Amino acid sequence: MAEAPRTRDVKNHLLFEVATEVANRVGGIYSVIKSKAAITSAEYGDRYCLIGPLNRHSAAVEVEQLEPQNEHLKRTLDSMAERGISYVYGRWLIDGAPRVILFDTKTGYKHLDEWKGDLWNAAMIPCPPGDDETNEAVVFGYLVAWFLGEFVSHETSKAVIAHFHEWLAGVALPLCRKRRIDVTTIFTTHATLLGRYLCAGSVDFYNNLQWFDVDAEAGKRGIYHRYCIERAATHSCDVFTTVSHITAYESEHLLKRKPDGVLPNGLNVVKFAAMHDFQNLHAQSKEKIHDFVRGHFCGHNDFDLDNTLYFFTAGRYEFRNKGVDMFVESLARLNHRLKTSGTKTTVVAFIIMPAQTHSLTVEALKGQAVIKALRDAVGVVEQGVGKRLFERALRWRDGEDLPTDKELVSNQEKIMLKRRIYALKRNALPPVVTHNMADDLTDPILNQIRRVQLFNHPSDRVKVIFHPEFLNSANPVLPLDYDDFVRGTHLGVFPSYYEPWGYTPAECTVMGVPSITTNLSGFGCYMEELIENASDYGIYIVDRRGKGVDDSVNQLCEYMFDFAQKSRRQRINQRNRTERLSDLLDWKRMGMEYVKARQLALRRAYPSSFENEEPFPFFDGTEQKVARPLSVPGSPRDRTGMMTPGDFPSLQEGMENLDTDDYVGWRLPEEEDTDDYPFPLTL
Ligand code: UDP
Ligand code: G6P
Ligand code: GLC
Repeated sequence: MAEAPRTRDVKNHLLFEVATEVANRVGGIYSVIKSKAAITSAEYGDRYCLIGPLNRHSAAVEVEQLEPQNEHLKRTLDSMAERGISYVYGRWLIDGAPRVILFDTKTGYKHLDEWKGDLWNAAMIPCPPGDDETNEAVVFGYLVAWFLGEFVSHETSKAVIAHFHEWLAGVALPLCRKRRIDVTTIFTTHATLLGRYLCAGSVDFYNNLQWFDVDAEAGKRGIYHRYCIERAATHSCDVFTTVSHITAYESEHLLKRKPDGVLPNGLNVVKFAAMHDFQNLHAQSKEKIHDFVRGHFCGHNDFDLDNTLYFFTAGRYEFRNKGVDMFVESLARLNHRLKTSGTKTTVVAFIIMPAQTHSLTVEALKGQAVIKALRDAVGVVEQGVGKRLFERALRWRDGEDLPTDKELVSNQEKIMLKRRIYALKRNALPPVVTHNMADDLTDPILNQIRRVQLFNHPSDRVKVIFHPEFLNSANPVLPLDYDDFVRGTHLGVFPSYYEPWGYTPAECTVMGVPSITTNLSGFGCYMEELIENASDYGIYIVDRRGKGVDDSVNQLCEYMFDFAQKSRRQRINQRNRTERLSDLLDWKRMGMEYVKARQLALRRAYPSSFENEEPFPFFDGTEQKVARPLSVPGSPRDRTGMMTPGDFPSLQEGMENLDTDDYVGWRLPEEEDTDDYPFPLTL
């Protein structure tokens, strides 16, 4: 018997977004859902809710607990609680303040064996023992499927979209399909497991994508079962998407399904009242980095901070994928070039990548402490001198000389100062790393630094500091949050080999900090496609496709060397141009791809609800075309007739009568500003 068509209210549909990084920072997926929350909340209001696994530590800081108001939600959660499942429901304390459900997966582990058996029966996915990450994914997936199944049995009128991010949150997808849960699903992969693993090795990945024996490759790496989850999620969702064209191509070959569309990542762009405010912030943050550098190089403060440039790379510790191998090698070549050019400019290069560590080193702490002691001592002397000078000035008579420093600085103060100055002395070179590494001898970054001998010698024009921990303002050595740190630097360097999107250079751009990326990163390709002369706008793209490794290293070195030749005025101008690209990356623009993906999911699940529908109102093609900006130098490529940011042919399926081209344009701010997001942004 033919199934009756599914009918639900698609207009007022509900949206659940499922990811393991909800209110829990690990990497870029956290940045996606957090920065997107403002526009999604504006569009959905209380019809939007995120679901993630509970990390008590970060939830305590990021989530304000509430009682669920929605009766169906409450009934579902109550019934799960009756069966021993704990959760936190509340408001994620970020822009947009979306509601979140965080399931305490620990309370589901009693079912682990049963669920693993079921997963095998339902989807032929094996789960060998001893893989904690997979166990976690299974328990979380089963909890989400349980929740969705029960929820739609209570909420029977409105359509429900469940949007899953990455394989770790994907176990629920084959379950939704198998159990015929009446939701429509989207799966967005932010990378492929095999891509990450293969690239981290020494495989010529991009030239062999079509030829990999995927099962065998996954088996060799001990990730066959994880790969099965990822592939099952890919094939059981209604709409499959990824974050860039390069990863779409990769997914097609490694996951064997061509994505329905590309959902590029955006950012929540904060506009300042005055254009130059972000320049002031740069100067303020740079001052804080100067403070750290003074301490770190104490005893070796023989270079001029006013003529020092801060370069940095940052991200999860993936040595080859994030291109740290290439960065350090290029820094060595840059050092050589700067030395031979006789420049007085110094480059301090930071590597911010969390690794296993025991603690901050005594050296790192001591460096900051002695500088602080010196600063305090100078403060005391300053006060004393000021007081004495004031007293003398009061009693000054015509013809008398002004007091000499001998009279103004007391002997006691001189002794105190001398002691502080002696404390600055250091016999060893300034350290390369700020922490005690758990595995110092085999650490790939340290070994690469050792290999190229960048040891912070006074003659080096390039100094290196490896900070193996994400930044935060409570850190006693480098007390800055990541964003503030980025603002204070001059150049972000991200020469990735494997990077589905790459938030780090995008974040630099919206903060007006130039960056280097590659044509193997989703972001790099996106910008290369959109802007003709990207380097004028502070987006340098290293060619890692068409060039050999050595040539790419040289190109990277050349970019850094050229940047180091710029005058302050040129840097300020370039920062202005970089910052003007922000609109390109704003969720107000990028978010439209998510809107389209959701529409497609609804149309696929509930085709009968769209039979007599007017075209989707946001795709009526009335938006302005991308204009060539008037600013010099250069201009973004003329995109007349361009596709939407993530256009991929099949995302249009079911919307054939819609003109989706050029649904949104972008302009540089000195031209007319348009507010082109279709939802009110008053939050
Ligand atoms: N990041 C951070 N603190 C740091 C360094 C990096 O929070 O000290 C963040 C950064 O803001 C970015 C994310 O880590 O949003 C990395 O995301 P990306 O997409 O570049 O790479 P992924 O880790 O997802 O592969
Ligand atoms: C900003 C500030 C200026 C400062 C400059 C330093 O533009 O507004 O006051 O001189 O930064 O730039 P630099 O590239 O040398 O760090
Ligand atoms: C992944 C990718 C990264 C991307 C992020 C967000 O972790 O490695 O390139 O920016 O997801 O999509």
